Amino acid sequence: MTTTRAPGKIILFGEHAVVYGRPAIAVPVTQVYAEATVEAKPGPVTLHLPDLGRSYTLLDAPEDDPLALTVCKTLDHLGLNSRNGLHITVRSTIPIARGLGSGAAVATATVRALAQHFGQSLSPSEVSDLVYQTEVLLHGTPSGIDNTVIAFEQPVYFVRGKPPEHFAVGAPLYFVIGDTGVPSPTKITVGDVRRAWEANRETYEARFNAIGRLVRQAYQAIAEGQLVTVGALMDANQAWLHTMGLSSPELNRLIEAAWAAGALGAKLSGGGRGGNMIALVTPDTEQEVIRALREAGAANVILTLVT
Ligand code: PMV
Repeated sequence: MTTTRAPGKIILFGEHAVVYGRPAIAVPVTQVYAEATVEAKPGPVTLHLPDLGRSYTLLDAPEDDPLALTVCKTLDHLGLNSRNGLHITVRSTIPIARGLGSGAAVATATVRALAQHFGQSLSPSEVSDLVYQTEVLLHGTPSGIDNTVIAFEQPVYFVRGKPPEHFAVGAPLYFVIGDTGVPSPTKITVGDVRRAWEANRETYEARFNAIGRLVRQAYQAIAEGQLVTVGALMDANQAWLHTMGLSSPELNRLIEAAWAAGALGAKLSGGGRGGNMIALVTPDTEQEVIRALREAGAANVILTLVT
């Protein structure tokens, strides 16, 4: 029996603009994770999702089933033709459709568990490429940032189609992650942004350029440990996301609560219109911000550290 895990993730800067070739910054979040177990068992390959109360065989899986796709692509990649003799169980503590990378983490844990079960070692880049194929099924036109940050399990400065750059962190970054409790599928927000971009390319290209500039400034500020600048850039990024209709009353409420409690900056993280927001805090303000987010109705609050 083989069990492996993969973490969740947050996007610090650049979501949505990253789909259009601008840079983005993301970090893994190890406080939440997906876990896959592979066991040898006679009979057809069975997929077991106890969290969702689902169990089915690979043969019975719907054509657009992300887990079945991940398993088939991975077995092909490992050079295994048989579709028998495996029992695969996947669990996850990452809430679904909240911008924390649940889909990519489930796929990453599954790819790793299958490879390990068959005694093969895959590089992070091979894992990332396999998970990207599942992301296409889940999200339509993913930039690839989720599979990259989760498969590499390191902070990444990411530009679509390029190898990820790992970056220096000049001073520890403490983030409080607040969940609105509102699921918001990325496919929908990404599709809405695409329609708006098609209808008004000049405006959207200018917005993406502005976001791209602030991501590059954030990269520099993070490397130099200039936390006040990092916070201000998060606020500026949030303002652009808000302008593009990607925030929501629930997100705004949590972001304003974080600001009022002394956060250095706050913004939505991921697809938006729901899901999670993040706030940059210090050891002096973290407890106050956590309390404020809970009072403002956060369904869950996580503290994470980037070093
Ligand atoms: O999966 P989410 O909700 O974290 O969103 C991914 C980030 C987007 O930029 C909105 C989409 C993408 O493919 O990069």
